Amino acid sequence: MKTAVYPGTFDPVTNGHIDIIERALKLFDKLYVVVADNPQKAPTFTAKERVEMLQGALKQNNDRIEIQYFDGLLLNYVKSKKSNVIVRGLRAISDFEFEFSRALLNRELEKDIDTIFIMTKDDYAFLSSSIIKEIAMFGGSVKGFVPKIVEKKLKKTFKK
Ligand code: COA
Repeated sequence: MKTAVYPGTFDPVTNGHIDIIERALKLFDKLYVVVADNPQKAPTFTAKERVEMLQGALKQNNDRIEIQYFDGLLLNYVKSKKSNVIVRGLRAISDFEFEFSRALLNRELEKDIDTIFIMTKDDYAFLSSSIIKEIAMFGGSVKGFVPKIVEKKLKKTFKK
């Protein structure tokens, strides 16, 4: 069985992430979607909320997707799942430099684990979790950019 791990902060998940997940499912039998923390970021949503939004958005594919929060080194999570592939999405050339150095670093630390990159659908190339939160914060519509469950959660969070 071919497996892969798709990590991210997912604060919150957007349709761009969902697009990468759907593409990865065409290449792998099982995908571990892992909600992790980037120490440079202070997430708006708790780990539990980020996992719940992903679960709500991905109900229909449940048997081939496992969604979990992991508080630790990504490579340790990948090894714990006996996988050797990390999936990352690329939206634009500007993502490349950052992703390239991370992928090389991870391979240096664990030579059997490789990172593969999937290009985001161009409709979503301009999306990011921060821009979504900014739109929602100022009362704009995020319809079509995020799953329904995220749209509702954002409305509730930024109502005040
Ligand atoms: N569509 C839309 N947006 C996308 C996207 C896509 N396909 N792919 C990425 N993004 C956006 C995200 O929404 C996020 O936006 P934001 O910065 O506004 O929040 C941004 O691109 C990048 O986020 P993400 O993909 O979640 O990466 P990250 O850099 O925040 O986090 C982790 C990366 C969590 C995987 C990494 O920090 C990690 O592995 N942490 C665990 C600890 C560890 O092992 N560290 C060592 C790593 S070498």
